[in-house]
Amino acid sequence: MRVSTSCATAPGPVLAIESSCDETACAVLAPEGTILAQRVISQDGHADFGGVVPEIAARAHLSLLPGLVKATLNDANLPPAGLGLVAASTGPGLIGGLIVGSGFAKGLALALKRPFVAVNHVEAHALTARLPGLVEGGAPFPYLLLLVSGGHCQCIAVEGIGRYRKLGGTIDDAAGEAFDKVAKMLGLGWPGGPALEQLAREGSPDAIALPRPLIRRPGCDFSFSGLKTAIAQKLAPYGRTPLPRPFAADLAASFQQAVADVVADRINHALDMMPAARLLVAAGGVAANTALRARLEETARSRGCRFAAPPLRLCTDNAVMVGWAALETWAEAARRGQTPFTNIAVRPRPRWPLEDMASRFTPAHNQPAAGALS
Ligand code: KG4
Ligand code: ZN
Repeated sequence: MRVSTSCATAPGPVLAIESSCDETACAVLAPEGTILAQRVISQDGHADFGGVVPEIAARAHLSLLPGLVKATLNDANLPPAGLGLVAASTGPGLIGGLIVGSGFAKGLALALKRPFVAVNHVEAHALTARLPGLVEGGAPFPYLLLLVSGGHCQCIAVEGIGRYRKLGGTIDDAAGEAFDKVAKMLGLGWPGGPALEQLAREGSPDAIALPRPLIRRPGCDFSFSGLKTAIAQKLAPYGRTPLPRPFAADLAASFQQAVADVVADRINHALDMMPAARLLVAAGGVAANTALRARLEETARSRGCRFAAPPLRLCTDNAVMVGWAALETWAEAARRGQTPFTNIAVRPRPRWPLEDMASRFTPAHNQPAAGALS
């Protein structure tokens, strides 16, 4: 099945690199979006520090990328000269990793004399649902995107390529950050989300009363720090004594339920703010959470909307989404009658709001850099 957009205008397969956090990833996609190969290395070396260490991540990207790119091209059975485009996440994210990944991709593009497409990481998450064949019935614009990951927690109206409106976002922790911090308090490893979900299966979601921050408030902003504090208070009486497992499981299940309640309420408000939406898409690592997915599906259905969440490996950070966003960008430029562009001069940016993405299609942005490619 094809989605409504056609990316057949790309001059050949795209090789994409993702390096904005602690996943080093590479993928090769055919011009219409078929995944020819994909590899992801989830870096170790961070767990001992209880979170991603930017310097360790950047160095690991540097040492992993050459072998990873070679292996991915091998998997795709494609020589480098067979590529049509090279793409990389150039923001938002950790600047060291972004410099390494986009520098590598630009070098490859220059050596191969192929265009380089700079991809916004959040936009790539937003467009993943449009990958051909991923969502039954396709993902036509407009749709509501819930992005819940370690670094992001946002509701975004996705109205077209380059047309995004942030409806709301977290005012403190991201959802994944809250999962990770609570998991740490419960003595679980890092990243904590999957471990917390597993522990929650043994507990009762109604066992322990926890707050539902911002619930029923106007808009669709999120807040998780009050929930975190409430958990810390429940744990305080135990001091340094090990937690009884049933209590830890009840706490994990109750926390997960509170997050699901909050997210469902916020999504209801976001759908009120976007009456044209007929589809809710969830993306980001936290969208892997089964209880949350079930709740989102129920919420969407109650509002007459379809629900879609990419499979796990495309929900968490990966390079397929980067390649797909590059193909969509390329096709959109062509649809607008613009000369397909190369933007090798685009610099990595730790912050890159989605609202800025419309300017990508202005002539100034699309001028090839001196000495670059056609
Ligand atoms: O999108 P992602 O891979 O990368 C970042 O943006 O960081 O998301 C990682 C986040 C981590 O905070 C992790 O704990 C959380 O997603 N996560 C989960 C689950 N799987 C991953 N949170 C809750 N339940 C899960 N099953
Ligand atoms: Zn991400």
